[in-house]
Amino acid sequence: MTKPQRAVFGVLLPVALAGQAQRPLPRKASTPVLQEPSPQEYYGFLRDYKEKPFADFTRDGGPPITRVTNLEDAAFQQMVRDGAPFVVDDCTRGFDEDAINAFECKDFARRWPSGNMRAEYTPGQYHIYLKDPNWYTKIEPQRAHHEHMAGKKKIAGPYIWHVKDEEPLKTKREVQQHWRTPYFLEKSIANRIEANESFEFWFSMAGGGTFTHADAYCESTISMQFKGKKRWRIQSFPRVKSFLNATSFGDSDIYENKVHVPWTPETEFTVHPGQCLIFPTGYLHETFVDPDENEGGCFTASTFQFNHPRQVNLYRAYLSSLSMSHYGMGEPCLQKIQGYATLISLFKPPSGSPDTAAIQKQTEGIFKKIDGDNDGKLVNKEFYDYFCKDKRKREKVMAEADFSYSWFKMLTKSQRDELIEEAMEVFSEDALQYHDIDQDGAVTVEELTSGFLQWSVVQYRLNAMKNLAPDGSKPNKWFKGAMKVEQEVLSKHFCEDSKSCEAVDDLEAHRKRLKDEGKHAMARKAAAVSGMLSGEDEGDNEALDMVDRESGNRESMKVGHIKGGDDEL
Ligand SMILES: [Fe+2]
Repeated sequence: MTKPQRAVFGVLLPVALAGQAQRPLPRKASTPVLQEPSPQEYYGFLRDYKEKPFADFTRDGGPPITRVTNLEDAAFQQMVRDGAPFVVDDCTRGFDEDAINAFECKDFARRWPSGNMRAEYTPGQYHIYLKDPNWYTKIEPQRAHHEHMAGKKKIAGPYIWHVKDEEPLKTKREVQQHWRTPYFLEKSIANRIEANESFEFWFSMAGGGTFTHADAYCESTISMQFKGKKRWRIQSFPRVKSFLNATSFGDSDIYENKVHVPWTPETEFTVHPGQCLIFPTGYLHETFVDPDENEGGCFTASTFQFNHPRQVNLYRAYLSSLSMSHYGMGEPCLQKIQGYATLISLFKPPSGSPDTAAIQKQTEGIFKKIDGDNDGKLVNKEFYDYFCKDKRKREKVMAEADFSYSWFKMLTKSQRDELIEEAMEVFSEDALQYHDIDQDGAVTVEELTSGFLQWSVVQYRLNAMKNLAPDGSKPNKWFKGAMKVEQEVLSKHFCEDSKSCEAVDDLEAHRKRLKDEGKHAMARKAAAVSGMLSGEDEGDNEALDMVDRESGNRESMKVGHIKGGDDEL
């Protein structure tokens, strides 16, 4: 592991930037648990935003993205917990000349010729070696979409170098020598290490870009721009009201009204060299290295994740929508948040349809255990005292609240102690904020009941849909089952009045539309939703199609083989 590089701090300026202070609006514990805030209610920078159809979108017409400099830890942590997207203007502050952001594309090729990377948007998305000079000298536009910001012009896919999990350890360690961590991640040992372990590089010539998509990560992502300017258009994760609308918002899926919401970017902005964009799980984005704003040449950026704190407020607000997407149906995002939602399994979701009265009773018992001073409010210190003092309980928090990092065994004893203490502090505050939906710094029994009920309903519905998945090839049977589950949870937990429930009416209208479109539409929907619930990650067994464009040689290699057997640390 490289020595973490410490940024040199000058006098810190107060962080009083307008957009940053605007947190999500507080919510009431009595709100039906499947109701979710609008983007305007949730995201501070969108508070006065008025949605415009795509045809009326203008590059400068959207609300400005939050931009910060001299980012202090408390402000950073809150924005991450809230899942706010924002740009850090001084992201590479303090980086030295030997840092990777100073490298040109050809420097990467010269230093790591046998490195392999994926050429996005090429037929078969094949992999090439870094020594292949084409990638940094020739632009190969592949495809256009009129809803992409490049318009009719074809864009080239970027090249993505997955140093983190598709290279031998030796290469990874060499690259890490030049890796620098942004100053605002330095304070946390987990963030320093995770950034260092998870970075990947994105390379593109002017004219490169990506179509709109939502990434698969359960954690916050940073895209750090090294060379060149990148234009971004973004749209917050659309609300998904039922499994009939479950989608993963994969590459270009949202264009041309192919899913239940149209591509309606909220705003556009440019990220310059030395700046980075931090964005939460689910935020849709489209990018373009615009040739009109970038002279020729090759552009570099890096993308990586960090772990502390968690995006607890985002997950709490949009748990239901996220559960009906790849985040809940294929990726382990709900499992990762489970320790917060159930308070380390103190809460046990009831089997069968969630019963509010029974959940309330169970909550009262749990509440009493944590409420040390018995004042009817759970504050940070009470979460810490209950979960993070006793050695056995600390171990449970480490195991159940997703702190068992793959790199834990690399750490020295004192680093482990530092990580564990940091994890306890993160857990106490994250657990508090997850359940404190009115944002007054304390959790009431009503708030805790609402959090547990929401978790139970989301799990109940997800499990019911998993049980239906084997019927995915029998559309009539599948629809019957799916409609029953959806009608039940929406009328009980989305609507204030279960007798007139607009969400149920929408659902029925949706089913009717599919029926009118014919048998195939129903079959496609049943198969798609069931398929999403049974997807699996191939991991090291994934086969990469390697192409040496010089010799024309092609070979298929398993990821595990490329990484080699030298994975001990
Ligand atoms: Fe992405």
